Amino acid sequence: MIDVLLGLQWGDEGKGKIVDFLAEGYDIIARFQGGPNAGHTLYVNGKKVVLRTIPSGVFHKHCLNLIGNGVVIDPVSLMQEIEQLIPMQPDVLSRLFIAHRAHLILPTHRALDAASEAAKGEEKIGSTLKGIGPAYMDKTGRNGLRFGDILSKDFRKKYDKLAQKHIQMLRQYDHKIEWEQWEEPFFEACEYLSKLQTVNSEYWLDKQLKQGKRVLAEGAQGSMLDIDYGTYPFVTSSNTIAAGVCNGLGVAPSRIGEVYGITKAYCTRVGGGPFPTELDDETGEELRRVGNEFGAVTGRSRRCGWLDLVALKYTVMLSGVTKLIITKADVLDNFKEIKVAVAYNADGIETNELPYDICDVSIEPVYKKFDGWDKPISSCSSFNDTPEVFRNYCDYIEKYLETKIGYISNGTGRDQLMAIF
Ligand code: GDP
Ligand code: IMO
Ligand code: MG
Repeated sequence: MIDVLLGLQWGDEGKGKIVDFLAEGYDIIARFQGGPNAGHTLYVNGKKVVLRTIPSGVFHKHCLNLIGNGVVIDPVSLMQEIEQLIPMQPDVLSRLFIAHRAHLILPTHRALDAASEAAKGEEKIGSTLKGIGPAYMDKTGRNGLRFGDILSKDFRKKYDKLAQKHIQMLRQYDHKIEWEQWEEPFFEACEYLSKLQTVNSEYWLDKQLKQGKRVLAEGAQGSMLDIDYGTYPFVTSSNTIAAGVCNGLGVAPSRIGEVYGITKAYCTRVGGGPFPTELDDETGEELRRVGNEFGAVTGRSRRCGWLDLVALKYTVMLSGVTKLIITKADVLDNFKEIKVAVAYNADGIETNELPYDICDVSIEPVYKKFDGWDKPISSCSSFNDTPEVFRNYCDYIEKYLETKIGYISNGTGRDQLMAIF
């Protein structure tokens, strides 16, 4: 069976930390979508590491790491990531496998991302500008280059053909991007990556699963950024929900086992788009300060707000989450009052369902209030040790979402995690 771990909000739920913890119990960690727009933070022996394309099992010697076909790869970014890891994990390359079918992000994809965002002005998505959208557009438009193409003797020819198409497209934009300087490092990185272990990941995984290997699929971004079910058009360009695992790794739905869904004890979003429980006040500022809510990749300040159970119930449903993981519970330690949204007032009508369009509809959250806890969660070593108010808060979340909580994270460290079984 293949278990799944994915974010239930707008990303940055703490996936990196939790995968790093859970990796102890798995043989293979596999990324199934996204690309270097992800920033997954891990603390290894007190040292902070941010992973972008490499799965978060890389610090466990027994774990193989697969970059699946649903991922889009920026060769320069991946090469830099590997080079950064080698001093810490000299055997990283022997445990890293890349799907032939994963698509490549070209320098001109990054240029197109930047030009398109600049042209959108006020309505920009707030893309990470890593070329994600244009690379996935070429994939579905049947123009893209795949990782396996790096090994082809016609690679340069294929590249030139696609880059020419992009150059034509870039002419439509007023905004000029000096992308030519990115071409040489791109080819150098492709040369470097051509020596890595590439696999037909669908067959490779099938064999591993038949041998009884335990596999964990690691999601990037979050369910509310899903291309189909997120807050479109303020989304990323891949399927971030559990369904994306089947496409992104080539495994059948019947092989999916446990689905871990991660949520912060509050909510954040980086970039543009609707955010019903956003707090534009001192409380929001306090969440950002205590939670250190600044992007792992871009350093951008994250928008903060209360936990949104309406959106969570929706994303738990979409992925069939079997176990919840709540992170950053410690961040709420000093709040006198804690709120959670239990319904929306959407243009005057109360609902528990996420409306089709939350961009143009006025949404007023209906809140349930909880007293703050009288003992810091950060100092607790087990769930039984946590204050009663906190346990009641967890109980309410479980009942509302009709899903059990498996773990509560109360700090950045690998072991700052309380299991509830
Ligand atoms: P990811 O993209 O889902 O892997 O999450 P990020 O790494 O982008 O952001 C999560 C941030 O929260 C990182 O800086 C983590 O070190 C930090 N973090 C994770 N879990 C906890 C927790 O339980 N408490 C606190 N205070 N920080 C946490
Ligand atoms: P992890 O894996 C948070 C957001 C961007 C932007 C939108 C589209 O670290 O949770 P894109 O570059 O994909 O075209 O940007 O999605 N976004 C993320 N927000 N965490 C992420 O990844 C994100 N990846 C993309 O900010 O709003
Ligand atoms: Mg992140």
